[in-house]
Amino acid sequence: MQIAEIVERRSVSPRRLSEPGPTPAQLNAIIEAACAAPDHRRLRPWRFVLIRTEAREAFADLFEAAARETHGKLNSDHVKRAREKATNGACLIAVIAEIRDNIRDVPPHEQWVSVGAAVQNILLAAKSFGFGSMLVSGDKVSTRALTGGLGLAPEEHLLGFVAIGTISKQPGTAERPGAKEKLSYWPKEEIRGVK
Ligand SMILES: Cc1cc2nc3c(=O)[nH]c(=O)nc-3n(C[C@H](O)[C@H](O)[C@H](O)COP(=O)(O)O)c2cc1C
Repeated sequence: MQIAEIVERRSVSPRRLSEPGPTPAQLNAIIEAACAAPDHRRLRPWRFVLIRTEAREAFADLFEAAARETHGKLNSDHVKRAREKATNGACLIAVIAEIRDNIRDVPPHEQWVSVGAAVQNILLAAKSFGFGSMLVSGDKVSTRALTGGLGLAPEEHLLGFVAIGTISKQPGTAERPGAKEKLSYWPKEEIRGVK
């Protein structure tokens, strides 16, 4: 992958990620890319669950239950929006992190970095196949409806979902910081020819 492709990657709303999504072989390759994330002590603190296409409506029941758990009584618009979040995007993958607080030399923040790197590899691998993608979460991720419905163990967290699909409407260009804002040098004064 060229650096320009990394820089130009944009998140695309799951509403704009239409069929076709990745083939099973492409999905396997995307997950292999995720598993190439930096990972101190090989903890593999991530796993992924593909929500099967034929089960997306059933999965929407969990999103609706999650919204009820968080917000109580829902009106019909709220129900519709909650359910759509489970059915938008050709392909929907739950990202699950197993973060342990008793690992010597690998505090939780290092494990979260590994999870984040795995997600970024998914986004870039999806782009390399020509797909758009986006990581989304929301307050639903910590509900019993979803953590129980996905079968998480007590030490696991649902980070969110990556949606992948064919871009039906291109996003605009992103305003992002660059080296000017985010790179500095130590010491600050010119040293050994490096400014
Ligand atoms: C852990 C995590 C959860 C996120 N959840 C949401 C979300 O629920 N909704 C949303 O609009 N963006 C969410 N985002 C941000 C988008 O994934 C995306 O990074 C952001 O819109 C910037 O777009 P870009 O990737 O094109 O720079 C989340 C990002 C992270 C890292």
